[in-house]
Amino acid sequence: MAGSEECGYFGSYLCFLGGATALYYLLKWSWMTWQGVKVYMLSNIWQTDLREYGQWAVVTGATAGIGRAYAIELARRGLDIVLISRSQEKLRRVSDDIESRYRRQTRVIQADFTEGHSVYPAIADQLKGLEIGILVNNVGMNYAGMLVNYLDVPDPEKRITEVINCNILSVTQMSRLILPQMVERGKGLLINMSSEAGSQPQPMLTLYSATKIFVTYFSRCLHAEYQPRGVTVQCVTPFMVSTNMTHNIEVNPLVKSASSFARDALNTVGYSSFTSGCITHALQHIALTIFFPGWLRLSPFCVHRVEKFAQEMKQQIEARMAQCQKKQE
Ligand SMILES: NC(=O)c1ccc[n+]([C@@H]2O[C@H](COP(=O)([O-])OP(=O)(O)OC[C@H]3O[C@@H](n4cnc5c(N)ncnc54)[C@H](OP(=O)(O)O)[C@@H]3O)[C@@H](O)[C@H]2O)c1
Repeated sequence: MAGSEECGYFGSYLCFLGGATALYYLLKWSWMTWQGVKVYMLSNIWQTDLREYGQWAVVTGATAGIGRAYAIELARRGLDIVLISRSQEKLRRVSDDIESRYRRQTRVIQADFTEGHSVYPAIADQLKGLEIGILVNNVGMNYAGMLVNYLDVPDPEKRITEVINCNILSVTQMSRLILPQMVERGKGLLINMSSEAGSQPQPMLTLYSATKIFVTYFSRCLHAEYQPRGVTVQCVTPFMVSTNMTHNIEVNPLVKSASSFARDALNTVGYSSFTSGCITHALQHIALTIFFPGWLRLSPFCVHRVEKFAQEMKQQIEARMAQCQKKQE
């Protein structure tokens, strides 16, 4: 008798637990779906007016790829642009393009972020007197053109420091330079370019992946500190975008072009402070988290597969480069 009563209690307890779990997931998924609709769909219709942050936007790594696309899109939305990169010639080309197409003012600053601390006083000097509403900390580099083991990084002594200077120091120092005037005005927007490669540990991209999780944590902490003072810090974690960094891989439903990525990602401003940038990348992030979680990526089996894949890729790239060279001759 007592046994069947116990069974009844246990059954009700299990029912309650099952119901509560189902309700928890139902609410969680409904919330996630609503967030997705808001951040990636409604944001296309009701866009934040980016001119509200201030007159100028500063973009690092602004002459190619995602940085150039952000600079052009920001100009299209009515901001004057400061472009920062290494090559004076490319800077001029992008600045002429922006001035003629969108009738916005531009300034160019030539700087090589791999050089470390020495570049910031000159950048600070050239930014003096500008009302900077938006800073896009976009510049970033990988340590090799492809996936490699850490000890196979070419010229490691120099390259490792360069990657840290370019991917980490630039974000922290540029934020330090520009944040004070935003705090003083009680408004501003920092956009920091992290990567999906920083969302989970990524063997064969070890240092790159580690620098990107730094950017993510730096951005999220800074957002928590400065949002109450009117400054939004948005962290963007793209998947594959077709740029020089990704060997201009063909655009397809999973790989975005830089211009369409920048357009979508800028639409999410005001809707999310931590975003994949566009809906297809957000969906890939969810799928990867479920089907290819961190523990699996770090398993010897997967690392071995990635090593093999990297070797095949290297051969393909070398063959393609040899073909191009032949054609040129
Ligand atoms: N492409 C992707 O699939 C992808 C995915 C996730 C995250 N990201 C991130 O997005 C950002 C932009 O990537 P991207 O693919 O657009 O790169 P990209 O095509 O290689 O363009 C890099 C830009 O940065 C400039 N640059 C490079 N090194 C520099 C340095 N040392 N100092 C100053 N400027 C420098 C380059 O111009 P100059 O040569 O004229 O200096 C260029 O304008 C990076 O932070 C990257 O990690 C990219």
